[in-house]
Amino acid sequence: MVVDPVSGEVLGGKLQQVYVYEAPVRIWHWAMMLAMLVLAPTGYLIGSPWNGGTGEATFSYFFGTIRLVHFLAAAVFVVSFVVRVYWVFAGNHHARSIFLPPVWSGRWWSGLFRQMGYYLFLRKESPAWIGHNPLAQIAMFAMYVVGAFIIILTGLSLFSEQFGWGSVWMNLFGWVNVLLGGSQMVRLVHHLTMYYLLIFAVIHMYMVIREDVMSGESVVGTMINGLRTFKAGAHKG
Ligand code: HEM
Ligand code: HEM
Repeated sequence: MVVDPVSGEVLGGKLQQVYVYEAPVRIWHWAMMLAMLVLAPTGYLIGSPWNGGTGEATFSYFFGTIRLVHFLAAAVFVVSFVVRVYWVFAGNHHARSIFLPPVWSGRWWSGLFRQMGYYLFLRKESPAWIGHNPLAQIAMFAMYVVGAFIIILTGLSLFSEQFGWGSVWMNLFGWVNVLLGGSQMVRLVHHLTMYYLLIFAVIHMYMVIREDVMSGESVVGTMINGLRTFKAGAHKG
């Protein structure tokens, strides 16, 4: 099989199974998804609190529990993101794909427009890709990588506030508060970024399931066992 080494486009030859997503990428993906399933509802409740019943708040500790669960899931989200960023440097070519899209490659740009043509029903066939197609790369960089970075920084800045100015936490993350002009703006940006990430997640889930059914290659299975396989009779064969 002939593959363009920079863009990952399959140029021709017999299609073969390829190992794309290494274990750390797959573990990060599913751990991060589970963390987000917890972070979004608990975060929503922090922003729009519910009093949680009729009893004395001290005894139910309802809101405290919601915050604790949010912080535990946030720890999973942050640690898995840090491991994922380490894997950008330690992992294979595909581990870099959404963090450093190869915008210097002419074939990558041509692939971007051909892929857009396919989604706009202007082309019947999508080019075949070993990793993400260029459009997916750009979308994942702009929506996931940037969004996760912002939600982590604003989250850590909000978390630091409880320790007060002059604490180690505030020395590390207080600058986000100063940069955004105060706690309320940090909270607003954190909250809005949740919607940004959730919009990405919904579109992403639609796309991966649709591509799994419609395209010539494995998609959902690739994020489970790491292997990109090609369906019998797939293009470029
Ligand atoms: C996908 C990831 C995350 C989502 C969807 C999310 C969502 C939210 C939302 C919607 C709020 C309420 C904001 C408001 O007051 O309107 C919130 C609050 C908060 N989040 Fe997150 N968050 C995420 C990750 C994080 C991370 C990584 C941290 C880091 C420690 C964090 C720490 C906090 C803190 C400290 C608060 C304020 C709690 C309070 O004031 O009681 N969050 N989050
Ligand atoms: C909170 C929800 C989710 C988020 C934020 C998310 C995020 C991501 C990101 C950022 C990537 C790129 C990985 C990389 O190249 O480093 C990815 C890939 C992938 N995700 Fe998700 N994901 C979510 C849920 C799901 C679900 C529910 C499924 C399965 C139905 C899924 C299936 C996949 C697959 C198959 C890939 C690889 C696509 C390919 O082979 O080109 N994701 N996801």
